[in-house]
Formats: sequence, structure tokens, C-alpha cells
Amino acid sequence: MTAPTAYRKIYDPAQAAHYSVAKEAARATHRGEVALAARALRDVPRHETLLDLPCGAGRMTVELARLGFTALVAADVSPAMLELAQARLRAAGLAVPLTLADAERLPFPDQAFDNVFCFRLFHHFPDDRLRRQVAHELCRVARRRVVVSYLDRRAFTARKRQLQSWWRPRKASKFTQSPDEMASFFRDCGFAPVADLARLPYWHSLRILVADRT
Ligand SMILES: C[S@@+](CC[C@H](N)C(=O)[O-])C[C@H]1O[C@@H](n2cnc3c(N)ncnc32)[C@H](O)[C@@H]1O
Repeated sequence: MTAPTAYRKIYDPAQAAHYSVAKEAARATHRGEVALAARALRDVPRHETLLDLPCGAGRMTVELARLGFTALVAADVSPAMLELAQARLRAAGLAVPLTLADAERLPFPDQAFDNVFCFRLFHHFPDDRLRRQVAHELCRVARRRVVVSYLDRRAFTARKRQLQSWWRPRKASKFTQSPDEMASFFRDCGFAPVADLARLPYWHSLRILVADRT
């Protein structure tokens, strides 16, 4: 078997700062994403451990703390992103442990966390072998539940992106799935889907799959 294609978009300090500012500026998008995450995590007990991977600049980590999660751990493959996350958490008066971690090979023991939250990573993976490898790692370290975002290829915004790429070709950086494909990656790791939520059904491609260990 050939090794999975690696995806590591390790932001340097300038890219990390740009991402952080751009995401902060898009307030409506941020609010929509937080609302979607809140729905997906609605029935997760707030005292249970929750891994936020990738945490990026800590944008969602702060929101998870605001949602009441008290046993958070945040991780990312980019040291520059972790530095920004550290500063953001400190400014918010939060003490969340931060770890350098590659989703393809997580530095945590099996079932180290009750729940794993993986937001805005999966759609960057260019092939199924990599998707399966990361799904396997997320499920390996989750004792109970995984909550994973992806982009739904049936949605209007995904179709629009595809059409635009026909007349303005450029290297693809976002890859889409169907809900069935997404569920199958996690079923194969012993996790059964319990919910699949859309930010704006059939309009916006962002969705979150919630799956529990069987
Ligand atoms: C689009 S940002 C999302 C961050 C955060 N979840 C958010 O919504 O603001 C993607 C993040 O994935 C991280 N990343 C990319 N490849 C990774 C990998 N293989 N393992 C862990 N993190 C990775 C990047 O460093 C970046 O911080």
C-alpha cells in the first residue's frame, strides 16, 4: 500500500497573522460557524475532555470555552498558529493547554479525550487515503464522540466554486464530500453518525458530522 499524501499547511507567522485577522473580520461567517458548532456540541457534557484540533489561532477554542467547556485541550501543526492561539487565550483570561500535533499522527494515547472537535481541516485533504488516515487518528484518540466539519459538494457555494474553477483554473485548496462519503470514513473506524448538520442547508457547503463510538 502506498503511503497517504501528506497535507500540512504549516502557516508561517505572516500567514498565521493574516488568517487570524481575516477570520476575525468576517464577523457574520464567524457567528454562523460558532452557531453551527454550538448545535453540534449541544449535548456534549461540559465537564468532559474536548480536543480542539486544529485550533489555528484559537478562534474556536475561545468560543468553546464560552460555550462552557471546562476541560479543553487545543492542538495544531503550526507553531505560529499556536503562538497566536496562546496570545488570544491569554487575552481572554483562559488557561487552555496547547500542543503541537499533526492530525496524521497524533501524539496522544488511544481514547485520550472524551470528545474531539475538528473544525475546518478535513476539506483541505486532497485524497481519500489522507482523509481515512486522519479519520482514523481522530477516532483513535476519541473515547466517545467526534465532531468534524467538512464541505458538502451538493451545496450551492460548492457548485459555484467548481464552476468558477472551470473558467479561472487554479490549484484546488478546498475539497468537498458527500454526507455518505464522510459518514463512511468514520463508520470504518467504528464510529456511527448521530447527526449531520448544515450551516445553511443546500446553500452553504459547511457541515458538521457528529459520530459516536459504537
Ligand atoms: C483553516 S485553519 C482552521 C483553524 C480553526 N479550527 C478555525 O476554525 O479557526 C486550518 C488549521 O489547520 C492546521 N493544520 C493543517 N494541517 C494540519 C495537520 N496535518 N495537523 C494539524 N493541524 C493542521 C493549520 O496550521 C491551520 O491552523
